[in-house]
Amino acid sequence: MSQKPINLLEYESLAKQSLSPMALDYYSSGAMDEKTLTDNRTAFDRYKILPKMLRGVSQRDLSTNILGQSLSAPILIAPMAFQCLANSEGELATARAALKLDLGMVLSTLSTKSLEEVANFSKKLWFQLYIHRDRELTRTLVERAEAAGYQALCLTVDAPILGIRERDRRNQFTLPPHLEIANLVTKIPQSDRESGLYEYFMEQIDPGLTWQDLEWLANITKLPIAVKGILRADDALKALEYGAKAIVVSNHGGRQLDGAIATIDALADIVGAVGDKIEVLVDGGIRRGTDILKALAIGANAVLIGRPILWGLALDGEKGVEKVLSLLIQELDCAMALSGCAKLQDVDASLIKQI
Ligand SMILES: Cc1cc2nc3c(=O)[nH]c(=O)nc-3n(C[C@H](O)[C@H](O)[C@H](O)COP(=O)(O)O)c2cc1C
Repeated sequence: MSQKPINLLEYESLAKQSLSPMALDYYSSGAMDEKTLTDNRTAFDRYKILPKMLRGVSQRDLSTNILGQSLSAPILIAPMAFQCLANSEGELATARAALKLDLGMVLSTLSTKSLEEVANFSKKLWFQLYIHRDRELTRTLVERAEAAGYQALCLTVDAPILGIRERDRRNQFTLPPHLEIANLVTKIPQSDRESGLYEYFMEQIDPGLTWQDLEWLANITKLPIAVKGILRADDALKALEYGAKAIVVSNHGGRQLDGAIATIDALADIVGAVGDKIEVLVDGGIRRGTDILKALAIGANAVLIGRPILWGLALDGEKGVEKVLSLLIQELDCAMALSGCAKLQDVDASLIKQI
């Protein structure tokens, strides 16, 4: 790498030069007009920090506990499919970087390395579940995740079908012949009119899920469940009622319903409704440590980071992911010091003003 990126936005522009056009479109795109994708980022600009002075910040501690697991900072890697499109080590490299920094990682059902292989590299893992029409297959995935030592399940609820991602449709997105959904030993279909992933969802993923299916899942597993894809306070309360221990406020990185609210805008109402009864995580457009500080001040317990991980992976494998996460941690640490916060408990709603 001739030029050294010094922030996540630079990682993005450099990584774009090193991916195939089909992989780049799959990673970077959002649904339809990509309004929600854009909003996820720009919405952060409307929240301003009101820093506190003279609060003694020489010793700072970013560590936290999420679903009973200690993390060095309130950051997890979001579940993202097909990481071997970025680097031949794919999810294994991502897991090693997470381990090194003592951060969490959520592995996608649609990973290109199997959940068992990935479990060799990190213990702070959650398994993201797509409930398939085939319930026995779904149950087997849950049992395998438990047996491999995963600490939580992350049930994605915002994808009963796949959003219309026009760049993938145009490219007739599919995986190259040497890659597959490793957990299921299944190829992504090839279609001459659609994204192969769209076709896969239509055929395999159950669009009929209701809150009772969350109850079903809670009854077949001992693992805590995080429900990912919540954007409304009433749904957050339902998740709590039906057995979730955490929610992830997410619009799938703007890849599902275009026009859906930016996640940072959805957060305050949700936190207001659920209080401390359930852990609240948020993802979408988080690219700076100050974005994390804002999310924490509004009331999130932790954040998930999506695409920047893929940019790090594409540019420099495990080292690239480690660097992306280290930059974020350094920026969060700086933002906390400059706002008068020595520990995460000091980050409260008084730090934020929405304009
Ligand atoms: C390439 C890609 C693949 C994704 N795959 C999944 C997935 O398999 N399961 C899931 O729940 N979310 C998936 N997501 C959504 C992410 O978990 C996360 O919600 C989103 O990327 C966060 O936004 P950000 O990329 O702006 O940080 C994917 C996102 C991207 C960019």
